[in-house]
Amino acid sequence: MPPRVLTGIKPTGSPHVGNLLGAIRPALRLAEQGLDAMYFIADYHALTTVQDPKALRELTYEVAATWLAMGLDPDRVQFYRQSDIPEIFELAWVLACFTSKGWMNKAHAYKAIVAANEGGGEADADAGINVGIYTYPILMAADILAFDIDLVPVGKDQVQHVEIARDIAQRLNHICGSEVLRLPQAKLEDNSAIVPGLDGRKMSKSYDNTIPLFAAGKQLKKIINRIVTDSTPPEVPKDPETSTIFQIYRAVASPDDTRAFADRFRAGIGWGDAKNALFERLEAELGDTRSRYDALMADPSKIDALLAQGATRARKTARATLDRVRKAIGISR
Ligand code: ADP
Ligand code: TRP
Repeated sequence: MPPRVLTGIKPTGSPHVGNLLGAIRPALRLAEQGLDAMYFIADYHALTTVQDPKALRELTYEVAATWLAMGLDPDRVQFYRQSDIPEIFELAWVLACFTSKGWMNKAHAYKAIVAANEGGGEADADAGINVGIYTYPILMAADILAFDIDLVPVGKDQVQHVEIARDIAQRLNHICGSEVLRLPQAKLEDNSAIVPGLDGRKMSKSYDNTIPLFAAGKQLKKIINRIVTDSTPPEVPKDPETSTIFQIYRAVASPDDTRAFADRFRAGIGWGDAKNALFERLEAELGDTRSRYDALMADPSKIDALLAQGATRARKTARATLDRVRKAIGISR
């Protein structure tokens, strides 16, 4: 049996060029390599922060349509909505009962908000933190443990969460029987290729500096024009590696086109010309996927049907795990 991999995608913002390079492409590559892949929309995780119903619905469709348009094959990859698998939430309760509160106190995401509150002179260190945020790693553990997962491809910030999932599984196995839950492992994604955003910092929806994958035409041009450049004159040779324009270009272009673009930098290129070249490359590289994306977004019932199919398949595995767990803990016979 090939290793089973799983990853969750939070619908908290419109997918951008950074997500394409850092998450979508590597995940699709793993599926092409024959791994048994499960990718899902972590909509109940998004609810910890996205509490505008219209936005949550819209972002869920945007994210699903993006992955499908980028080439996710739902016959090969189990692709579903977290919220369509009730077994995950029942399992999350069971896991919570095997989780030390201290583990949650130490979770990075929670600690970061506490630190920000304390640093900002907030009297209550827990201000603005709902219990969903606090127990976020337990739900994530359930996402993983429900499906007997071997590998979880994640960025650095999520490794601790996968380790918590492993710790919870180990504790439950130790107390209730050794083979109840499979122990997952984090597969750390190479972070060397972080795509910078318009202001040169990491492209991230939190910095409002992204190039959304499906911006087009005039809107895309306007966004590209916001890329911050310096006042070096056009004819002066430039180091492509230090240019945001070049690094975004490289994230989408073929190696040959990237090399040719680097040569233009070394020969001297004006920032206006460089931005035009980036605009044209994005239009060319994403044109076809954009039409697939638009077609899906025009008829979300197709997306619903595909996700429902994925959920039907995934639920069978989750059901089997939950039955095993319920027996092991003494809830059912
Ligand atoms: P954001 O920073 O916009 O909030 P997320 O944290 O939701 O993005 O990231 C989703 C996935 O996309 C993660 O796997 C992350 O590693 C990847 N990713 C996000 N931004 C970038 C970037 N600028 N370059 C490379 N990968 C990125
Ligand atoms: N916590 C992940 C993130 O913030 C998303 C996620 C939810 C996830 N459940 C998961 C990732 C299970 C891997 C496995 O990006």
